[in-house]
Amino acid sequence: MSRPIRCVLVTGGAGFIGGNLVRLLLRERPDWTIINLDKLTYAGNLESLVDLKDNPRHQFVRGDIANAELVEHLISTHKVDAILNLAAESHVDRSILGPGIFVETNVAGTQVLLDEARRANVRFVQVSTDEVYGSLGPTGKFTELSPLEPSSPYSASKTAADLIALSYRRTFGLDVVVTRCSNNYGPYQFPEKLIPLMIANALESKKLPVYGDGQQIRDWIHVDDHARGILAALEKGKSGEVYNFGSENEHPNLFIVRELLKLLSRGDDLIEYVKDRPGHDRRYAIDASKARRELEWAPQVPFAQGLSRTVDWYRENRGWWERVRSGVYRNYYAQNYGARG
Ligand code: NAD
Ligand code: DAU
Repeated sequence: MSRPIRCVLVTGGAGFIGGNLVRLLLRERPDWTIINLDKLTYAGNLESLVDLKDNPRHQFVRGDIANAELVEHLISTHKVDAILNLAAESHVDRSILGPGIFVETNVAGTQVLLDEARRANVRFVQVSTDEVYGSLGPTGKFTELSPLEPSSPYSASKTAADLIALSYRRTFGLDVVVTRCSNNYGPYQFPEKLIPLMIANALESKKLPVYGDGQQIRDWIHVDDHARGILAALEKGKSGEVYNFGSENEHPNLFIVRELLKLLSRGDDLIEYVKDRPGHDRRYAIDASKARRELEWAPQVPFAQGLSRTVDWYRENRGWWERVRSGVYRNYYAQNYGARG
Protein backbone atom coordinates (compact mmCIF):
# COMPACT_ATOMS: atom_id res chain seq x y z
CA MET A 1 0.00 0.00 0.00
CA SER A 2 1.49 3.33 -1.03
CA ARG A 3 -0.78 5.92 0.64
CA PRO A 4 0.40 7.01 4.12
CA ILE A 5 -2.20 6.51 6.83
CA ARG A 6 -3.39 9.30 9.08
CA CYS A 7 -7.07 8.57 9.51
CA VAL A 8 -8.79 5.18 9.67
CA LEU A 9 -12.51 4.45 9.64
CA VAL A 10 -13.21 1.49 11.92
CA THR A 11 -16.72 0.06 11.73
CA GLY A 12 -18.21 -1.93 14.61
CA GLY A 13 -15.83 -0.25 17.06
CA ALA A 14 -18.28 -0.39 19.96
CA GLY A 15 -18.27 -4.18 19.75
CA PHE A 16 -15.86 -6.68 21.25
CA ILE A 17 -13.05 -6.88 18.69
CA GLY A 18 -13.67 -3.37 17.31
CA GLY A 19 -13.30 -1.71 20.71
CA ASN A 20 -10.11 -3.62 21.52
CA LEU A 21 -8.77 -2.82 18.04
CA VAL A 22 -9.49 0.92 18.38
CA ARG A 23 -7.60 0.95 21.68
CA LEU A 24 -4.65 -0.87 20.11
CA LEU A 25 -4.52 1.49 17.12
CA LEU A 26 -4.58 4.59 19.33
CA ARG A 27 -1.80 3.10 21.45
CA GLU A 28 0.42 1.75 18.68
CA ARG A 29 -0.03 4.53 16.09
CA PRO A 30 0.13 7.83 18.01
CA ASP A 31 -0.27 9.97 14.89
CA TRP A 32 -3.46 8.29 13.65
CA THR A 33 -7.03 9.47 14.12
CA ILE A 34 -9.79 6.86 14.38
CA ILE A 35 -13.35 7.44 13.24
CA ASN A 36 -15.47 4.79 14.90
CA LEU A 37 -18.78 4.10 13.11
CA ASP A 38 -21.17 1.81 14.96
CA LYS A 39 -24.94 1.35 14.88
CA LEU A 40 -25.04 0.38 18.56
CA THR A 41 -27.09 -2.77 18.12
CA TYR A 42 -27.59 -4.98 21.19
CA ALA A 43 -23.88 -5.91 20.83
CA GLY A 44 -22.52 -2.36 20.62
CA ASN A 45 -21.85 -0.69 23.93
CA LEU A 46 -20.51 2.80 24.59
CA GLU A 47 -19.62 1.67 28.11
CA SER A 48 -16.83 -0.32 26.47
CA LEU A 49 -15.32 2.94 25.19
CA VAL A 50 -15.62 5.22 28.24
CA ASP A 51 -11.85 5.47 28.64
CA LEU A 52 -11.66 6.96 25.11
CA LYS A 53 -14.31 9.63 25.65
CA ASP A 54 -11.86 12.51 25.92
CA ASN A 55 -9.31 11.21 23.44
CA PRO A 56 -9.04 13.83 20.65
CA ARG A 57 -7.83 11.14 18.21
CA HIS A 58 -10.99 9.06 18.57
CA GLN A 59 -14.36 10.12 17.24
CA PHE A 60 -17.41 7.96 17.77
CA VAL A 61 -20.29 8.21 15.29
CA ARG A 62 -23.54 6.32 15.76
CA GLY A 63 -24.74 5.08 12.39
CA ASP A 64 -25.29 2.21 10.00
CA ILE A 65 -22.67 0.96 7.54
CA ALA A 66 -25.55 0.62 5.07
CA ASN A 67 -26.06 4.41 5.13
CA ALA A 68 -24.11 5.40 2.01
CA GLU A 69 -24.56 9.14 2.52
CA LEU A 70 -23.21 9.00 6.06
CA VAL A 71 -20.25 6.84 5.06
CA GLU A 72 -19.43 9.13 2.13
CA HIS A 73 -19.66 12.16 4.44
CA LEU A 74 -17.32 10.59 7.02
CA ILE A 75 -14.75 9.56 4.42
CA SER A 76 -14.65 12.97 2.75
CA THR A 77 -14.82 15.20 5.85
CA HIS A 78 -12.18 13.31 7.77
CA LYS A 79 -10.04 12.45 4.74
CA VAL A 80 -10.15 8.77 5.65
CA ASP A 81 -7.18 6.79 4.28
CA ALA A 82 -8.42 3.26 5.00
CA ILE A 83 -11.47 1.33 6.20
CA LEU A 84 -11.40 -1.59 8.63
CA ASN A 85 -14.79 -3.31 8.44
CA LEU A 86 -15.72 -5.14 11.63
CA ALA A 87 -19.38 -4.14 11.83
CA ALA A 88 -21.49 -7.27 11.69
CA GLU A 89 -24.11 -9.42 13.27
CA SER A 90 -21.69 -11.91 14.77
CA HIS A 91 -23.48 -14.63 16.74
CA VAL A 92 -24.21 -18.00 15.11
CA ASP A 93 -27.13 -18.88 17.42
CA ARG A 94 -28.89 -15.59 16.65
CA SER A 95 -28.45 -16.26 12.92
CA ILE A 96 -30.32 -19.53 13.41
CA LEU A 97 -33.16 -17.74 15.23
CA GLY A 98 -33.35 -14.93 12.63
CA PRO A 99 -31.13 -14.89 9.54
CA GLY A 100 -32.54 -11.75 7.83
CA ILE A 101 -30.53 -9.09 9.64
CA PHE A 102 -27.34 -11.09 8.97
CA VAL A 103 -27.84 -10.71 5.24
CA GLU A 104 -28.81 -7.04 5.62
CA THR A 105 -25.81 -6.01 7.69
CA ASN A 106 -23.08 -8.46 6.79
CA VAL A 107 -23.75 -8.66 3.05
CA ALA A 108 -25.68 -5.55 1.96
CA GLY A 109 -24.00 -3.26 4.52
CA THR A 110 -20.52 -4.41 3.50
CA GLN A 111 -21.38 -3.84 -0.17
CA VAL A 112 -22.38 -0.22 0.58
CA LEU A 113 -19.08 0.34 2.39
CA LEU A 114 -17.18 -1.18 -0.53
CA ASP A 115 -18.89 1.19 -2.96
CA GLU A 116 -17.86 4.16 -0.83
CA ALA A 117 -14.30 2.85 -0.48
CA ARG A 118 -14.20 2.55 -4.25
CA ARG A 119 -15.53 6.06 -4.76
CA ALA A 120 -12.83 7.45 -2.44
CA ASN A 121 -10.17 4.98 -3.57
CA VAL A 122 -9.12 3.90 -0.08
CA ARG A 123 -7.74 0.60 1.19
CA PHE A 124 -10.42 -1.76 2.55
CA VAL A 125 -9.74 -4.49 5.10
CA GLN A 126 -12.64 -6.95 5.40
CA VAL A 127 -12.51 -8.69 8.77
CA SER A 128 -13.89 -12.09 7.84
CA THR A 129 -13.81 -15.32 9.82
CA ASP A 130 -12.47 -18.88 9.73
CA GLU A 131 -16.12 -20.02 9.78
CA VAL A 132 -16.21 -19.44 6.01
CA TYR A 133 -14.34 -22.76 5.67
CA GLY A 134 -17.01 -24.80 7.47
CA SER A 135 -16.11 -27.80 9.58
CA LEU A 136 -12.90 -29.87 9.76
CA GLY A 137 -12.52 -33.58 10.46
CA PRO A 138 -10.16 -34.74 13.22
CA THR A 139 -7.00 -33.77 11.29
CA GLY A 140 -5.75 -30.96 9.06
CA LYS A 141 -6.00 -27.19 9.24
CA PHE A 142 -7.68 -24.45 7.23
CA THR A 143 -5.36 -22.68 4.81
CA GLU A 144 -6.37 -19.67 2.72
CA LEU A 145 -6.94 -22.14 -0.15
CA SER A 146 -9.35 -24.43 1.71
CA PRO A 147 -12.81 -24.69 0.11
CA LEU A 148 -15.44 -22.29 1.41
CA GLU A 149 -18.26 -24.34 2.96
CA PRO A 150 -20.05 -22.20 5.54
CA SER A 151 -22.63 -23.95 7.72
CA SER A 152 -24.75 -21.27 9.39
CA PRO A 153 -26.60 -18.22 8.08
CA TYR A 154 -23.97 -16.16 9.97
CA SER A 155 -20.99 -17.81 8.31
CA ALA A 156 -22.72 -17.86 4.91
CA SER A 157 -23.34 -14.11 5.16
CA LYS A 158 -19.69 -13.54 6.13
CA THR A 159 -18.58 -15.70 3.18
CA ALA A 160 -20.72 -13.63 0.83
CA ALA A 161 -19.20 -10.39 2.17
CA ASP A 162 -15.66 -11.82 1.97
CA LEU A 163 -16.16 -12.84 -1.68
CA ILE A 164 -17.86 -9.58 -2.65
CA ALA A 165 -14.91 -7.71 -1.15
CA LEU A 166 -12.49 -9.80 -3.24
CA SER A 167 -14.66 -9.25 -6.31
CA TYR A 168 -14.21 -5.48 -5.89
CA ARG A 169 -10.47 -6.06 -6.15
CA ARG A 170 -10.73 -8.15 -9.31
CA THR A 171 -13.47 -6.17 -11.04
CA PHE A 172 -12.79 -2.59 -9.97
CA GLY A 173 -9.18 -2.72 -8.81
CA LEU A 174 -10.14 -1.66 -5.26
CA ASP A 175 -7.31 -2.13 -2.77
CA VAL A 176 -8.82 -4.96 -0.66
CA VAL A 177 -7.33 -7.29 1.96
CA VAL A 178 -9.35 -10.03 3.70
CA THR A 179 -8.57 -11.55 7.10
CA ARG A 180 -10.00 -14.81 8.46
CA CYS A 181 -9.48 -15.37 12.17
CA SER A 182 -10.44 -18.11 14.59
CA ASN A 183 -12.38 -17.73 17.87
CA ASN A 184 -11.43 -14.66 19.90
CA TYR A 185 -11.61 -14.26 23.66
CA GLY A 186 -10.77 -11.40 26.02
CA PRO A 187 -12.32 -8.39 27.76
CA TYR A 188 -15.58 -6.74 26.61
CA GLN A 189 -16.88 -9.83 24.76
CA PHE A 190 -20.67 -9.94 24.76
CA PRO A 191 -21.83 -12.64 27.21
CA GLU A 192 -23.65 -14.66 24.54
CA LYS A 193 -20.38 -16.22 23.30
CA LEU A 194 -19.00 -19.35 24.97
CA ILE A 195 -16.29 -17.96 27.27
CA PRO A 196 -18.00 -14.84 28.71
CA LEU A 197 -21.34 -16.65 28.94
CA MET A 198 -19.81 -19.46 31.00
CA ILE A 199 -17.89 -17.04 33.24
CA ALA A 200 -20.95 -14.86 33.90
CA ASN A 201 -23.21 -17.87 34.53
CA ALA A 202 -20.70 -19.41 36.94
CA LEU A 203 -20.31 -16.10 38.80
CA GLU A 204 -24.09 -16.06 39.22
CA SER A 205 -24.20 -19.78 40.16
CA LYS A 206 -26.29 -20.53 37.07
CA LYS A 207 -26.00 -23.67 34.94
CA LEU A 208 -23.38 -23.74 32.16
CA PRO A 209 -25.16 -24.92 28.97
CA VAL A 210 -22.82 -27.14 26.92
CA TYR A 211 -24.15 -27.94 23.45
CA GLY A 212 -24.24 -31.64 22.47
CA ASP A 213 -21.30 -33.67 23.76
CA GLY A 214 -19.05 -30.62 24.28
CA GLN A 215 -16.33 -32.18 22.10
CA GLN A 216 -16.47 -29.53 19.37
CA ILE A 217 -13.05 -27.96 18.93
CA ARG A 218 -12.24 -24.28 18.50
CA ASP A 219 -8.83 -22.62 18.00
CA TRP A 220 -8.75 -19.79 20.58
CA ILE A 221 -6.87 -16.54 20.06
CA HIS A 222 -6.63 -13.53 22.36
CA VAL A 223 -8.40 -10.49 20.93
CA ASP A 224 -5.22 -8.37 21.15
CA ASP A 225 -3.42 -10.85 18.91
CA HIS A 226 -6.25 -10.63 16.37
CA ALA A 227 -6.15 -6.81 16.58
CA ARG A 228 -2.39 -6.86 15.95
CA GLY A 229 -3.09 -9.09 12.94
CA ILE A 230 -5.65 -6.65 11.51
CA LEU A 231 -3.14 -3.80 11.89
CA ALA A 232 -0.47 -5.89 10.15
CA ALA A 233 -2.90 -6.73 7.33
CA LEU A 234 -3.71 -3.05 6.92
CA GLU A 235 -0.06 -1.99 6.77
CA LYS A 236 1.63 -4.97 5.15
CA GLY A 237 -1.11 -7.02 3.46
CA LYS A 238 -0.88 -7.46 -0.28
CA SER A 239 -3.87 -6.22 -2.20
CA GLY A 240 -6.28 -9.01 -3.17
CA GLU A 241 -4.82 -11.43 -0.61
CA VAL A 242 -6.45 -13.36 2.23
CA TYR A 243 -4.70 -13.92 5.59
CA ASN A 244 -5.66 -16.50 8.23
CA PHE A 245 -5.05 -15.75 11.91
CA GLY A 246 -5.03 -18.39 14.64
CA SER A 247 -3.06 -19.16 17.77
CA GLU A 248 -2.63 -22.96 17.73
CA ASN A 249 -4.80 -23.32 20.81
CA GLU A 250 -7.17 -26.09 19.81
CA HIS A 251 -9.41 -27.20 22.66
CA PRO A 252 -12.76 -29.00 22.99
CA ASN A 253 -15.50 -26.80 24.48
CA LEU A 254 -15.75 -29.03 27.55
CA PHE A 255 -12.06 -28.49 28.31
CA ILE A 256 -12.57 -24.71 28.15
CA VAL A 257 -15.61 -24.87 30.42
CA ARG A 258 -13.73 -27.01 32.96
CA GLU A 259 -10.73 -24.65 32.91
CA LEU A 260 -13.03 -21.70 33.58
CA LEU A 261 -14.69 -23.53 36.47
CA LYS A 262 -11.24 -24.22 37.97
CA LEU A 263 -10.23 -20.56 37.63
CA LEU A 264 -13.49 -19.57 39.34
CA SER A 265 -13.16 -22.25 42.06
CA ARG A 266 -16.49 -23.79 41.07
CA GLY A 267 -17.34 -27.47 40.55
CA ASP A 268 -18.32 -29.42 37.42
CA ASP A 269 -21.83 -29.83 38.87
CA LEU A 270 -22.71 -26.49 37.22
CA ILE A 271 -22.29 -28.07 33.77
CA GLU A 272 -25.54 -28.90 31.97
CA TYR A 273 -25.58 -30.72 28.64
CA VAL A 274 -28.22 -29.22 26.36
CA LYS A 275 -29.53 -29.86 22.85
CA ASP A 276 -26.90 -29.30 20.19
CA ARG A 277 -26.70 -26.30 17.85
CA PRO A 278 -28.18 -27.20 14.42
CA GLY A 279 -25.45 -27.47 11.77
CA HIS A 280 -22.82 -27.28 14.52
CA ASP A 281 -19.27 -27.17 13.09
CA ARG A 282 -17.22 -29.91 14.75
CA ARG A 283 -13.71 -28.53 14.53
CA TYR A 284 -11.82 -25.40 13.48
CA ALA A 285 -8.02 -25.22 13.22
CA ILE A 286 -6.04 -22.54 11.49
CA ASP A 287 -2.82 -22.61 9.51
CA ALA A 288 -1.60 -19.03 9.98
CA SER A 289 1.81 -19.56 8.35
CA LYS A 290 1.06 -17.11 5.52
CA ALA A 291 0.38 -14.26 8.01
CA ARG A 292 3.46 -15.22 10.01
CA ARG A 293 5.60 -15.17 6.87
CA GLU A 294 4.17 -12.27 4.85
CA LEU A 295 2.88 -9.96 7.61
CA GLU A 296 5.63 -10.82 10.14
CA TRP A 297 2.81 -11.41 12.60
CA ALA A 298 2.78 -13.87 15.49
CA PRO A 299 0.40 -14.32 18.41
CA GLN A 300 1.89 -13.13 21.69
CA VAL A 301 -0.58 -14.03 24.43
CA PRO A 302 -0.13 -17.53 25.94
CA PHE A 303 -3.56 -19.15 26.30
CA ALA A 304 -3.40 -19.97 30.04
CA GLN A 305 -2.38 -16.41 30.86
CA GLY A 306 -4.97 -14.86 28.51
CA LEU A 307 -7.77 -17.00 29.90
CA SER A 308 -6.94 -16.27 33.51
CA ARG A 309 -6.70 -12.50 32.76
CA THR A 310 -10.06 -12.68 31.02
CA VAL A 311 -11.67 -14.36 34.03
CA ASP A 312 -10.20 -11.61 36.23
CA TRP A 313 -11.61 -8.94 33.91
CA TYR A 314 -15.15 -10.36 34.16
CA ARG A 315 -14.80 -10.67 37.93
CA GLU A 316 -13.65 -7.05 38.21
CA ASN A 317 -16.14 -5.61 35.71
CA ARG A 318 -19.32 -7.24 36.94
CA GLY A 319 -21.34 -4.04 36.38
CA TRP A 320 -20.49 -4.08 32.65
CA TRP A 321 -21.90 -7.55 31.99
CA GLU A 322 -24.70 -7.37 34.53
CA ARG A 323 -26.09 -4.29 32.77
CA VAL A 324 -25.68 -6.00 29.39
CA ARG A 325 -27.50 -9.09 30.66
CA SER A 326 -30.53 -7.17 31.88
CA GLY A 327 -33.44 -6.21 29.61
CA VAL A 328 -33.68 -7.62 26.09
CA TYR A 329 -30.81 -10.07 26.63
CA ARG A 330 -33.20 -12.07 28.82
CA ASN A 331 -35.59 -12.56 25.88
CA TYR A 332 -32.75 -13.88 23.73
CA TYR A 333 -31.58 -16.20 26.53
CA ALA A 334 -35.07 -17.61 27.00
CA GLN A 335 -35.51 -18.09 23.25
CA ASN A 336 -32.12 -19.74 22.63
CA TYR A 337 -31.82 -21.87 25.76
CA GLY A 338 -35.49 -22.40 26.67
CA ALA A 339 -35.95 -24.75 23.73
CA ARG A 340 -32.77 -26.77 24.48
CA GLY A 341 -33.67 -27.92 28.01
P1 NAD B 1 -19.69 -7.94 18.11
O1 NAD B 1 -21.04 -8.53 17.85
O2 NAD B 1 -19.17 -7.91 19.49
O3 NAD B 1 -19.64 -6.45 17.54
C1 NAD B 1 -20.23 -6.08 16.33
C2 NAD B 1 -20.39 -4.56 16.33
O4 NAD B 1 -20.94 -4.17 15.06
C3 NAD B 1 -21.36 -4.04 17.41
O5 NAD B 1 -20.78 -2.96 18.10
C4 NAD B 1 -22.57 -3.60 16.61
O6 NAD B 1 -23.27 -2.50 17.20
C5 NAD B 1 -21.94 -3.20 15.29
N1 NAD B 1 -22.89 -3.24 14.17
C6 NAD B 1 -23.76 -4.23 13.86
N2 NAD B 1 -24.47 -3.90 12.76
C7 NAD B 1 -23.99 -2.68 12.36
C8 NAD B 1 -24.31 -1.84 11.26
N3 NAD B 1 -25.27 -2.16 10.37
N4 NAD B 1 -23.65 -0.67 11.14
C9 NAD B 1 -22.70 -0.32 12.05
N5 NAD B 1 -22.37 -1.08 13.10
C10 NAD B 1 -23.00 -2.26 13.25
O7 NAD B 1 -18.72 -8.75 17.15
P2 NAD B 1 -17.18 -9.12 17.32
O8 NAD B 1 -17.07 -10.44 17.97
O9 NAD B 1 -16.45 -7.97 17.87
O10 NAD B 1 -16.76 -9.32 15.78
C11 NAD B 1 -16.33 -8.22 15.01
C12 NAD B 1 -16.05 -8.70 13.60
O11 NAD B 1 -15.04 -9.70 13.61
C13 NAD B 1 -17.26 -9.32 12.90
O12 NAD B 1 -17.24 -8.93 11.57
C14 NAD B 1 -17.02 -10.81 13.02
O13 NAD B 1 -17.63 -11.51 11.96
C15 NAD B 1 -15.51 -10.87 12.95
N6 NAD B 1 -14.88 -12.01 13.63
C16 NAD B 1 -15.21 -12.31 14.92
C17 NAD B 1 -14.55 -13.35 15.58
C18 NAD B 1 -14.87 -13.70 17.02
O14 NAD B 1 -14.38 -14.71 17.51
N7 NAD B 1 -15.64 -12.91 17.75
C19 NAD B 1 -13.58 -14.10 14.90
C20 NAD B 1 -13.28 -13.78 13.55
C21 NAD B 1 -13.94 -12.72 12.95
O1 DAU C 1 -14.41 -18.89 14.55
C1 DAU C 1 -14.71 -17.52 14.53
C2 DAU C 1 -16.12 -17.32 15.00
O2 DAU C 1 -16.12 -17.62 16.40
C3 DAU C 1 -16.62 -15.89 14.77
O3 DAU C 1 -16.71 -15.67 13.38
C4 DAU C 1 -17.99 -15.67 15.42
O4 DAU C 1 -18.38 -14.31 15.29
C5 DAU C 1 -17.89 -16.03 16.88
O5 DAU C 1 -19.17 -15.92 17.47
C6 DAU C 1 -17.35 -17.45 17.07
O6 DAU C 1 -18.31 -18.44 16.61
P1 DAU C 1 -18.59 -19.80 17.43
O7 DAU C 1 -19.93 -20.27 17.07
O8 DAU C 1 -17.45 -20.74 17.32
O9 DAU C 1 -18.55 -19.17 18.93
P2 DAU C 1 -19.50 -19.39 20.21
O10 DAU C 1 -18.83 -18.68 21.33
O11 DAU C 1 -20.92 -19.07 19.92
O12 DAU C 1 -19.40 -20.94 20.46
C7 DAU C 1 -18.13 -21.57 20.66
C8 DAU C 1 -18.39 -23.06 20.84
O13 DAU C 1 -19.10 -23.26 22.07
C9 DAU C 1 -19.28 -23.66 19.77
O14 DAU C 1 -18.84 -24.97 19.48
C10 DAU C 1 -20.66 -23.70 20.40
C11 DAU C 1 -20.35 -23.91 21.87
N1 DAU C 1 -21.33 -23.33 22.81
C12 DAU C 1 -21.62 -22.02 22.67
C13 DAU C 1 -22.54 -21.40 23.51
C14 DAU C 1 -22.88 -19.96 23.36
C15 DAU C 1 -21.88 -24.09 23.82
O15 DAU C 1 -21.57 -25.29 23.97
N2 DAU C 1 -22.78 -23.49 24.67
C16 DAU C 1 -23.15 -22.20 24.55
O16 DAU C 1 -24.00 -21.73 25.35
